[in-house]
Amino acid sequence: MSKASLIEWRGIAAVIGVDWGDSGKGRLIDDLAKRAHIVARFSGGSNTGHTVENKHGKFALHIMPSGIFHKNTHCLIGRNVALDLESLSEEMDALDKAKVSYDNLTIDEQATLTMPWHKVRDGIREKLRSGNKKIGTTGKGVGPTYADRTERVGLLVKDLFSKDFRKKLTEEIKIQNKFFGLKLNDEKIYRQYLKISKRIKSFVGSTLEILREAQKSGKNILFEGAQGYFLDIDAGTYPFVTSSNPGIVGIMRSFDLHPSVLNEVIGITKSYTTRVGAGPMPTKIDAEIREFLIIRGKEKGTTTNRLRDPGWLDLVLIKAAAEANRLTALAVTKLDVLSGLVSIKICVGYKLDGKKVDYLPHDAEFLTQVEPVYEEMSGWEEDISAIRNFKDLPTSAKKYIKRIEKITNIPVKFISVGPERGQVIYV
Ligand code: GDP
Ligand code: IMO
Ligand code: MG
Repeated sequence: MSKASLIEWRGIAAVIGVDWGDSGKGRLIDDLAKRAHIVARFSGGSNTGHTVENKHGKFALHIMPSGIFHKNTHCLIGRNVALDLESLSEEMDALDKAKVSYDNLTIDEQATLTMPWHKVRDGIREKLRSGNKKIGTTGKGVGPTYADRTERVGLLVKDLFSKDFRKKLTEEIKIQNKFFGLKLNDEKIYRQYLKISKRIKSFVGSTLEILREAQKSGKNILFEGAQGYFLDIDAGTYPFVTSSNPGIVGIMRSFDLHPSVLNEVIGITKSYTTRVGAGPMPTKIDAEIREFLIIRGKEKGTTTNRLRDPGWLDLVLIKAAAEANRLTALAVTKLDVLSGLVSIKICVGYKLDGKKVDYLPHDAEFLTQVEPVYEEMSGWEEDISAIRNFKDLPTSAKKYIKRIEKITNIPVKFISVGPERGQVIYV
């Protein structure tokens, strides 16, 4: 385990959510990308909502990598990303408006396109599911895009530039209309994608080659995870998961890069837990502290504007994510949000029928049955948003972080105390 501070990170690093998403990955990447030659997004689609707040403004990024604000950082979108070009185009508009250049972007030519029918199918499927079977997807067509890729019928980025694109599109739309009873307008979609393809053409390339070159010449590479490990299609709380691999497996799927070459795997979590959409959450808080965390933490989804359910920090989950992804460091965000709580609970174990149990991967039902075992710690009153050194934190805040380290056995190397770039403590 590396003891080096993240302020001077070097080599190949990855940021992985160790929760159900929205832990502050966008802001961490924006902070760390200062040293990155490459920032590479490897999974998910426009279900992602990464917030970045810096001198250029406040941005909600869905497809665009969060390293884009650093001119000298080459940003890559890998082949296993569900590529929603409508979203990317809107994000480009927002960057244009803020006069932020994105010349430093390469989109992999092999990535699967999220097309209008994927979003329609996502919506219909959710509507048809009965109450407790609804997943609460973001409606961004991510499930159907990955389903089509697995079925080997997805359109790829490179198809947009092939001579027979029109033919491929028409044929696919015919199939979609027939198979799913849709009424897609072939001409309208063709014109829309012709326009989009012209806009993105100069950004398309082979991200694998760029990454290999960078690796050979010892450049700093930062992998940007999306979602969180417990939304993983295989290891998460199935079926209440997404359709990709937010853990380190996802890096391999996009970039053919073995996890053993990662120098630093940073697991990121808020200082409490949140979940949006359906699915179990053992440490969910129902009382007035729920309101406190929602208001102070502004817990509304970046992509869908839905309220996020808050819970106490669940170290059982973080330990499971740490083991599976070989975490070398933890990043704890939103510590400032906890200021003002008299006491803070921390989940250190689960019990089932009075017996101690561990996390069981991919068992959503199991998580509905377990009872969290809590430790209670003192809170702190002080506003900590201006603190930049660990030693200046209130004693209770320091104890809280130390306890997380002790129980997980992973060093906390990054703490954030506000949403803006630089509102951080490098430990
Ligand atoms: P991501 O999906 O992991 O990138 O996280 P989101 O952007 O969806 O959600 C994190 C939210 O918390 C955003 O609104 C951020 O601006 C905000 N945020 C990030 N770090 C901090 C922090 O340290 N303090 C506070 N108060 N807000 C933060
Ligand atoms: P970031 O990258 C939080 C959740 C949805 C739903 C489930 C499946 O911003 O952390 P999907 O649309 O993927 O089929 O929805 O996964 N979900 C997220 N929750 N943050 C995200 O991304 C999420 N991406 C998907 O709410 O429960
Ligand atoms: Mg988010």
